[in-house]
Amino acid sequence: MRDGRLKGQVAWISGGTKGIGEGAARLFAREGAAVAIIGRDVKDGKRVVDTIAGEGGKALFIPCDVTKADQVETSIEQTVGHFGGLQILVNNAGIVDVRALHEYSEEQFTRVMDVNVKSMFLAFKYAFPHLKANAQSYVVNIGSISSYVGQDGTPVYTSSKGAVLQLSRSIGLDYARYGIRSNCVCPGITDTPMLHEHLDKAPDPAAHLAERLRRVPLGRILTPEDIAKAILYFSCEDSAGITATSLIVDGGYLAAAEWDCGASDST
Ligand SMILES: NC(=O)c1ccc[n+]([C@@H]2O[C@H](COP(=O)([O-])OP(=O)(O)OC[C@H]3O[C@@H](n4cnc5c(N)ncnc54)[C@H](O)[C@@H]3O)[C@@H](O)[C@H]2O)c1
Repeated sequence: MRDGRLKGQVAWISGGTKGIGEGAARLFAREGAAVAIIGRDVKDGKRVVDTIAGEGGKALFIPCDVTKADQVETSIEQTVGHFGGLQILVNNAGIVDVRALHEYSEEQFTRVMDVNVKSMFLAFKYAFPHLKANAQSYVVNIGSISSYVGQDGTPVYTSSKGAVLQLSRSIGLDYARYGIRSNCVCPGITDTPMLHEHLDKAPDPAAHLAERLRRVPLGRILTPEDIAKAILYFSCEDSAGITATSLIVDGGYLAAAEWDCGASDST
């Protein structure tokens, strides 16, 4: 293991068992952090821990439903107990539930808000005593392009991601005095199990993806590693001086009003 940018740091990453969270966990471990992988799926959790160990890194899987206060508190205490501290909190776990607003039950609405937003409050609440013990600590919350724009059929997801952006800003403002920087990474269309779950609902998933990518100037699907690099940036002193803001990693999606980006050659 080379001396990386996160040498000596301990990171707690929710939803680290797959997708963007797994990408961040693996990158963080390669950069020298000890990583607590927080999630519900024991099999995937162990797989990621084994992968990281095979790459010479340090990781621990802690089973936890991030909507449950007692489990979140225990996961933070286990992280600190095992690795001796906590400097980086990555709130990545999230779900999407596609349906029209009037078709949501109260329970379905609350579930999306609890996983995507309440979890971040809980994690920060229990991590704060440990984060404030460090000269510098980092909170990175995962928003979305939906933090900025609405998208078809996902009214509660887009609402929750708007809230994630504002919560990230609020934490940045209120806790700067404790040496805590808080920022939000907002991914665009990224190749993860969540995206495929979403695409698989379309009659022709590949055609649906191709249609969505017409809106992306870079013209390609993002990888979990593309997003992990932005999470890393906010989790170390490469981003010193930056707090209470966001970084959009979307291949240019939000810059465009057109649908056929790059389809015609006007240059
Ligand atoms: N994939 C995309 O295109 C995309 C785009 C924008 C934003 N995002 C955001 O990125 C984050 C990661 O998404 P992903 O695409 O990797 O999704 P994913 O479904 O592949 O992974 C989500 C992770 O969150 C975990 N999780 C969900 N509910 C949980 C709970 N109650 N307790 C503990 N863990 C829980 C899952 O087990 C999984 O490990 C999410 O916040 C998502 O909204 C993804």
